[in-house]
Amino acid sequence: CGVIGYVGSNATPDFFFRGLERLEYRGYDSSGIAMINSDGVFIERAEGKLKNLKPKLAYLPEYAKIGMGHTRWATHGKPSEENAHPHRSENIILLHNGIIENYKPLKEFLISQGYQFQSETDTEVAAHLLNYEFKQNSHIKNPLERMKKSLYSLVSKIRGAFAFGILCTDVPDTLFAVKYGSPVLLGLGEGENYMASGLTALVDHTCNVIFMDDNEIAYVTANNIEIVDFSGNPAESHVVEVEWQGHMIDRGGFDHYMLKEIHDQPIAVAKTIENRCDIEKGQINLRKMTLFNTKLKEINRIQIIACGTSYYAGCLSRYFIEKFTGIPVDVELASESRYRTPTVNVHTLSIAVSQSGETIDTLQAIKFAKANKAQTVAMVNVPGTSIGHECDDECMLYAGPEVGVASTKAFSAQLSALILLGLTIAQEQEKLPKEKIAEYINELVKVPSFIEKVLTLSSKIKEIAKKYCDVNSILFIGRGYQWPIALEGALKLKELSYIHAEGYAAGELKHGPIALIDENMTVVCLAPKDQYYEKTISNIEEIRARGGKILSVGTEGDTELKNISNDFIGIPECSEIVLPFLTTVPMHLFAYWIAVHKGTDVDQPRNLAKSVTVE
Ligand code: G6P
Repeated sequence: CGVIGYVGSNATPDFFFRGLERLEYRGYDSSGIAMINSDGVFIERAEGKLKNLKPKLAYLPEYAKIGMGHTRWATHGKPSEENAHPHRSENIILLHNGIIENYKPLKEFLISQGYQFQSETDTEVAAHLLNYEFKQNSHIKNPLERMKKSLYSLVSKIRGAFAFGILCTDVPDTLFAVKYGSPVLLGLGEGENYMASGLTALVDHTCNVIFMDDNEIAYVTANNIEIVDFSGNPAESHVVEVEWQGHMIDRGGFDHYMLKEIHDQPIAVAKTIENRCDIEKGQINLRKMTLFNTKLKEINRIQIIACGTSYYAGCLSRYFIEKFTGIPVDVELASESRYRTPTVNVHTLSIAVSQSGETIDTLQAIKFAKANKAQTVAMVNVPGTSIGHECDDECMLYAGPEVGVASTKAFSAQLSALILLGLTIAQEQEKLPKEKIAEYINELVKVPSFIEKVLTLSSKIKEIAKKYCDVNSILFIGRGYQWPIALEGALKLKELSYIHAEGYAAGELKHGPIALIDENMTVVCLAPKDQYYEKTISNIEEIRARGGKILSVGTEGDTELKNISNDFIGIPECSEIVLPFLTTVPMHLFAYWIAVHKGTDVDQPRNLAKSVTVE
């Protein structure tokens, strides 16, 4: 869910609406805004996409000194107006990002105390419970002190993950922010302050932010921010100046964020590797990798933990890291990795790969690895994240803000950073000759310009995609490091176009999925001229022999492949290290154009959210 809060001289309904637009990627099932002014409390909520809230902005006051907004990704309770946040319990107005795990017994208790529930959400429990605590503390005459005491009781009684934004009509100059598990940022302005669940909502207003830690409560007024722990003791906080700016989050003339972000890939890779590659010396600049605490020389095992597209970037990088270092690499789905008996130890490097840095599955998994003594590195694209905070070291990605729910430029940035990390370990452990490292670096720096070339294929891929947008199912195959790209291609297609798609290792097709092949089945085959080429061609022949349609991605000028394909996308000839970047781009463009032809919501596909902060 996305949360924006404001306290200061004057905020308009449009201010909150624009803040929510910046956060809509975090959920788009329903939304709501609350504002308080001298006439009272105003709350407007709407089911569905944020645009449904727009007509209701007219019912909010023109200006208010305090208010907050929410965009929801449903967990408990269907996406409806009743379940939209904020929730109100008399003097308390509350919105929430996270899950309250013990909401059932609390709800029963509150019902026994006469509270009536208007929604099916776990959040409403927190609103009523805070109101209940406020009543219990009626002996405290100062309303702010009474709220503080009530908040400490609230947080001691709920379990789960929660970032709350809270307003209290008895303390109308203070915005209350509570953080446990889910992210909360505070933005510092002049005579005004902000809270948000993501940096993107703040960058139009301020560069100075505080990333709240777990177990903290902030009392935010127009001119002051006080942060305490859950017992009321002062907490340490640091103001950080962030480099993101509003214009970085605009669509830049493209029809969709996704298309813009696909075209941002050259710069995303360039920024992630620049400075870290010392081309003259042919070395990785260890200091710029910002691995200050991990002891790379002592590592004998690598574990990559991630979800979704980030997981596929991990799967792909494994081929390279193992090749450079000889160190075994396990790539684990974060949501599963805690269910195995831990085998990591001080010699294991556990890398949490996450665009948002907030995915709770990845956060929990890296905490688990850390608890079992692994050395931990966060590879994240957003500054000040929970995952970054949790790990021993942080190796940032510099893809810039990614807004489209389907991840594209972050994937390429992750891949380049993971390859660099592999080279760094090889360098530190002297697993590769110096000349070889220099050679790889030389290749890596060519990636952005090669991606530029592949991007020119966009209109061709648009035409090809037209032919395939009515199919029911598509398979994607690839061998070696093309296999994770096949998986990524299938994931992108299903999330954007809702067409059923599966990725398979090309050699595995014959062990089962080949039964699906007939004249109605299309198979996207990744077959550039690499060391797997001949074997993959044999697999393509097997598909052809059974009547399947072939859409292949291969090396420019490869007439052999072109002749056995129904459609062919040619990418430039390049070295092994550049190649996976180049076969990925057509996967993203193909899914994008199919979705555009089908008219689905490219940037906000149904049921998804960009940053999933529930398990
Ligand atoms: C969500 C998004 C995916 C993303 C995954 C991991 O499910 O919809 O696009 O790949 O989370 O996100 P992360 O921020 O951890 O990379």
